[in-house]
Amino acid sequence: MISPKSVFVTGANRGIGLEFVKQLIKLPTPPKYVFAGCRNPDTSKDLQTVAESNDSVKIVQLDVTDQATVDEAYKTVQSTVKDEGLTLLINNAVHANLVELPDVTRDMMKINFDVNTIGPLMMVKTFLPLLQQASNQQSDLEMSCSRSAIINISSDSGSISDNYDGIYHGGLYPYKASKAALNMITSCLSLDLKKDGILCSAIHPGWVITETGGPNAEISTETCLQYCMEALELMKGEKWSGILYDCINKKIMGW
Ligand SMILES: NC(=O)c1ccc[n+]([C@@H]2O[C@H](COP(=O)([O-])OP(=O)(O)OC[C@H]3O[C@@H](n4cnc5c(N)ncnc54)[C@H](OP(=O)(O)O)[C@@H]3O)[C@@H](O)[C@H]2O)c1
Repeated sequence: MISPKSVFVTGANRGIGLEFVKQLIKLPTPPKYVFAGCRNPDTSKDLQTVAESNDSVKIVQLDVTDQATVDEAYKTVQSTVKDEGLTLLINNAVHANLVELPDVTRDMMKINFDVNTIGPLMMVKTFLPLLQQASNQQSDLEMSCSRSAIINISSDSGSISDNYDGIYHGGLYPYKASKAALNMITSCLSLDLKKDGILCSAIHPGWVITETGGPNAEISTETCLQYCMEALELMKGEKWSGILYDCINKKIMGW
């Protein structure tokens, strides 16, 4: 299993992000710190319950569209991990306007890109010194989620090569376009950060019962996380960086 020393999860107060936090602390070698980013710590009751039962979970106020909170989160993480750096950044937060052409608006396009595309990029830019620090400290290891990695939670809906006409694969312009752009950012980061030994890949976590996935989705967050953790474990070495991986069907997808 993966054994990152520290992990930052964005959008960790509900859905897949919250389940990531719950499963990370159950790893055989759990992280020393799991930083759980959320917009409203005071109202994040489920996350508070997890943090109360496990000292390694640190709730951090974070709105990925607000650089001041990203900078503040960086300072909090830095002062906690000290010279150990940050091992794993999971860009999970999402704003999903699942609308078709007649209903799409400029504002929907802007907010989906801000949260789903620009947010992850700015998180990486801000946290890069800590990711580099973690990577340097374990330079004897190959690239992996236990050395230093960025995992962008993307979607099969963001794959242009897998785009086809159908109920979930037509339109949905704000969400799909912002995830396609996140995929490009993932690919670029994997090239830029190769020299630092930092793995950067995107994963499709399946169709999951959450606010975004809706009540008719195929799997629970618990099942989703079993697949995601298996995928993260597989990702070792350069060939696993710069890919879009479908955790459910266990295959690399076309961008
Ligand atoms: N569910 C699925 O079927 C499915 C399928 C494919 C991919 N995914 C991907 O999986 C990831 C998690 O999705 P999910 O279904 O778990 O979503 P979700 O339950 O709807 O949760 C979304 C999370 O993102 C947070 N968030 C929204 N805007 C934010 C911002 N500006 N800054 C920081 N956090 C923000 C939300 O916080 P608040 O509570 O404050 O709003 C919430 O914690 C997403 O990247 C999504 O695209 C999901």
